[in-house]
Amino acid sequence: MTGKRILLIITGGIAAFKALDLIRRVRERGVDVTPVLTKAAQQFVTPLSVSALSASKVYTDLFDLTDEAEMGHIELSRSADLIAVVPASADFMAKMAHGVADDLASTLVLATDTPVLIAPSMNVRMWDHPATQRNLQTVMSDGVTVVGPEEGPMACGEFGPGRMSEVPDILMALETALMDGPLLGKRVLVTSGPTHEPIDPVRYIANRSSGAQGAAIAAALRDLGATVEFVTGPADVPPPAGVTVHKVETAQQMLDQVQSLLPVDAAVCAAAVADWRVTDAADQKIKKNAKGDLPVLSFAENPDILATISQGKNRPALVVGFAAETDDVIAHATAKRARKGCDWIVANDVSPETGIMGGARNQVTLIDEDGAEAWPDMPKAQVATRLADRIAKAIA
Ligand code: CTP
Repeated sequence: MTGKRILLIITGGIAAFKALDLIRRVRERGVDVTPVLTKAAQQFVTPLSVSALSASKVYTDLFDLTDEAEMGHIELSRSADLIAVVPASADFMAKMAHGVADDLASTLVLATDTPVLIAPSMNVRMWDHPATQRNLQTVMSDGVTVVGPEEGPMACGEFGPGRMSEVPDILMALETALMDGPLLGKRVLVTSGPTHEPIDPVRYIANRSSGAQGAAIAAALRDLGATVEFVTGPADVPPPAGVTVHKVETAQQMLDQVQSLLPVDAAVCAAAVADWRVTDAADQKIKKNAKGDLPVLSFAENPDILATISQGKNRPALVVGFAAETDDVIAHATAKRARKGCDWIVANDVSPETGIMGGARNQVTLIDEDGAEAWPDMPKAQVATRLADRIAKAIA
C-alpha cells in the first residue's frame, strides 16, 4: 500500500470513532489519507482529531472558497487512488444510489472516476429495510466495493446485521482494492525454508536455511499484485503478510501441499528441501542403551519437488529453481536446470565463508536457456525484487 493515497469520507454514525483507528493503521502502512467529514460526522468525531491523526487538512464544506482556490472539488475527488467511505450511513448510501450531490462528500463520490469502497454501518432495521437493500444493489452494480456490515450487538442495543466491520477487515479490503501491478490476477507458488525430517519424535535432520530469501521473494511477488501461495518449512524468518501461508515440516508434506495447489501461473522453489529422510523414523524416543550401542540410521531419497513440478502434467508456464552449490557453481547449476527441467535456476554459492545461507545478502547467477547472468552482491530483498520483476516480464 505504500505510497498510495486514500480520500477517506467519514459520514455520521457511531462507528465513526473506528475511522480514527483506521487512519492511524493506514498511515502506518505508508498511505496518505485526505479526510472529508460530513456535517453529521462532525457530531461523532472532531475535525481536529481527524486532522491530527491524518496529518492533513480536513475537508468539510463544498463551498469553502479557499479550498476551491487550492484544489477544486473535482480535483479532490480524483486526487486519490481510492475513495473509502467509513462508515457509510444509510443516508449516504441512498445518496450514492441516486446520484444526489448536496454536500462535499456526496459531490466527491459523484464526481470521481476512481474506485470507491464503502463500509456500511447502521441499525439492523435500517439495513434490512427494502430501500437500503435496493440502494445496496444499485451501488454494487455501479462497481462500488462493499465491506461488511457484520452481525452483532449494536450501540442502539439491538442485535443483527448493520454493525460496521472491524478495522483489520476494512484494512484488508483496502489493501485488496489498492492492489495493482503487473502480476494482478496471477497465482504464484513459492516454496521456502528448510524441511525437517524426523529421526524420532524429538529429533530431526535439518539444514541451515533461514527461509529469508523465499520470504523476500513471496513479498516481492505480492507487491507486484500476485496471489502468492507460500509453502514453507519450519523457517526462522516469519512469512510475509498478505500471502497465503501453508506450513509443512517434511519434504513429502511439501510435495503434497504443492501438488494440491497446482495449477499456478508460476512456481519458485526456494526451499532447501532435505534430500534424504530417515527410513522407519522411530515412534518413540530412541534411548541410549547400557552397552553403548550407537544408533544406525538408514536413509531414503526424498521426492524432488522442483523436478516433479517441472515435469508434471500441471506444469506452470514458468518454473524457477535454486541451486545451492559449494563448488563449480555455474556448471553444477546449469546441469541441475537440465536435469530437473525447470526454466530458470538461481544459483548461489553456499560455502560457509560466503555467509549466504542464513545471512542477509546474496550473490546469485541467473541461468536460463540463453546462459548465465551474474548479479552483483545485494541484500536478499533486492534479489527478490529483481527476480519478481523478471517473473512479471515473463508471465504478465
Ligand atoms: N529441490 C526440491 N526438492 C528436493 C530437493 C531440491 O524441490 N527434494 C529444489 C530446491 O528447492 C531448489 C532446487 O531443487 O530449487 C535445487 O536444490 P539443491 O539443494 O541445490 O539441489 P539438489 O536437488 O539437492 O541437488 P544436489 O544434491 O545435486 O545438489
